[in-house]
Amino acid sequence: MCSIIGYKGKNSAAPILVDSLKKMEYRGYDSVGVATIDDGSILVRKGIGKVIEVNKSLNISEMAGKIGIGHTRWATHGGVTDSNAHPHSACNKNIAVVHNGIIENYKELKAELTAKGHVFSSETDTEVIAHLLEINISGGIRKAMIDTCKSLKGNFAFVAVFQDGTIAGARYEEPLIIGVANDGYFISSDVLGFLQYTDKAIFLENGDICIVDSSKLEIFDFEGSPVAHPITQVAWELGDIDKGKYAHHTLKEINDQKQTVVHAGRQDEVMMQKFCDILGNAKSIYITGSGTSYHSALLFKHMLARFGKIRAETVMSSEAEYALSSMEADSILVAISQSGETADVLDSVKLAKSQGAKILSILNVTTSSLARSSDAFLSTNCGPEIGVAATKSFTGQLALIYNVTDRLCNGCLGTSKAEFAIAVENVLANVASIAKAAEKMNGATDIYLLGRSLHYPVALEGALKLKELAYVHAEGIAAGELKHGPLALMEKNTIVIMLNPHDDTFSDTISNAHEIKARGATVIGISDSKDDVYDHWIEIPRLNQSAFYPLVEVIPLQILAYQLALANSVDPDYPRNLAKSVTVR
Ligand code: F6R
Repeated sequence: MCSIIGYKGKNSAAPILVDSLKKMEYRGYDSVGVATIDDGSILVRKGIGKVIEVNKSLNISEMAGKIGIGHTRWATHGGVTDSNAHPHSACNKNIAVVHNGIIENYKELKAELTAKGHVFSSETDTEVIAHLLEINISGGIRKAMIDTCKSLKGNFAFVAVFQDGTIAGARYEEPLIIGVANDGYFISSDVLGFLQYTDKAIFLENGDICIVDSSKLEIFDFEGSPVAHPITQVAWELGDIDKGKYAHHTLKEINDQKQTVVHAGRQDEVMMQKFCDILGNAKSIYITGSGTSYHSALLFKHMLARFGKIRAETVMSSEAEYALSSMEADSILVAISQSGETADVLDSVKLAKSQGAKILSILNVTTSSLARSSDAFLSTNCGPEIGVAATKSFTGQLALIYNVTDRLCNGCLGTSKAEFAIAVENVLANVASIAKAAEKMNGATDIYLLGRSLHYPVALEGALKLKELAYVHAEGIAAGELKHGPLALMEKNTIVIMLNPHDDTFSDTISNAHEIKARGATVIGISDSKDDVYDHWIEIPRLNQSAFYPLVEVIPLQILAYQLALANSVDPDYPRNLAKSVTVR
């Protein structure tokens, strides 16, 4: 949820660190800080706000020194204050630390350290790491890192800078990647932190420690035994995070979908076949994900059942601990995740593996922990998604799900990349009509989204977008459930969005629209056919294959949420309290 970066090289560290933090700000963004070493002293500047703001007020990029560490924070322990911002130093100010994760035993450690005379200056769990390093340093930095890691419980990735110019990092259940440049080293939460400087990466594993001292890199485990990992060449395109002509990353990513739904079809044939073979021969299948990716899981289940005649169960990753405890040994877990770093998803994978299951995954970040834990994975290939709200990754997941289902039913769907692209382009061209609907919804405090069958997961997804981007209470409802309770909420000024393209759900959903209208509510229809019952109609194109409607009907919902975010003065790229990669439980 936080991003951490360390740099040691031949160039000025601070501007590089600030640049890297801007690229990783999507991971968390309530405060920022940097520590550098200049003339044998550790300098720290940190404060509340986004990277650009804090850099402007504290002139971080002008800090001297060629060695340093940096951090963007998404608060877990301790409020959003300057003193809780990282880096954190120990008593003698000869060590500074940045951390991502949660130290579960920090209270016990803090009590022990306080009893030994250590004085804490923040409310964070992280500060114990700095004090532990200070206590353990007498045996040298190597031993201090090992002893400190052994004392910590929980999940962590941290980078420390020492007064002698050494930087060191350690990883346990949080990502940490070394960037190997010609003139220095990076230690980062994400390849985006260094990809503008080098495409050579070493992915640390759980229980690894790395030390860069006088420009030599050493990697060893928590027992001190040397560890060797290959240098991986990372695709440069992963670093392409410019928002171009668009006001926000979110808007760009919504518009990118006309290309990204096509890119999702570009799969390595061998991997695709392996994925489908494992899935097609599975005795029992569970599909998991969180948030938006869970909505894709629901759609995948429908698609497999309807077209592949394959039964699967869906499990929210945050519920997997309770739901997967009785998995059969020869099961398959399909994990869906944009980032491949969501802690709940990784936990469900771990649990499934411990019960003998094979892991298939659908992900966007091919260098992620999930990719490395999977027996086979498919990439949505939609490029970095920076906006906190998932948009192009959702339609990328859907396009992939259609492709896999099509293979499993021997081409019964007839997926066509060209058809996807044209349909998405048509919806995006309809932005004026979507803006009119947004006007009708402006000021609403509750919005309901209704759909049946494949449209129900889209209703859930639309509601999630409205909540996180526009801060409006929104609820996705299976339209057939209306009469079982939610109809009581329908009255004058209630806003209801009906997902109602012309397929086998159409006439039942139209009946629901009439029931709602009769109670005085405002009905907005997203459909390929106009109907008098709609107070406002958002037209989507008619598709030859009705199973593909979710791919296009979600786009007006993304645009509506974006427009309402602007109307409510929310920065759609950085909604409050959220982070793009949820790496804590
Ligand atoms: C919603 C959103 C989140 C993520 C969820 C899972 O717009 O972005 O709900 O979908 O945190 O993230 P991934 O897919 O990276 O596992």
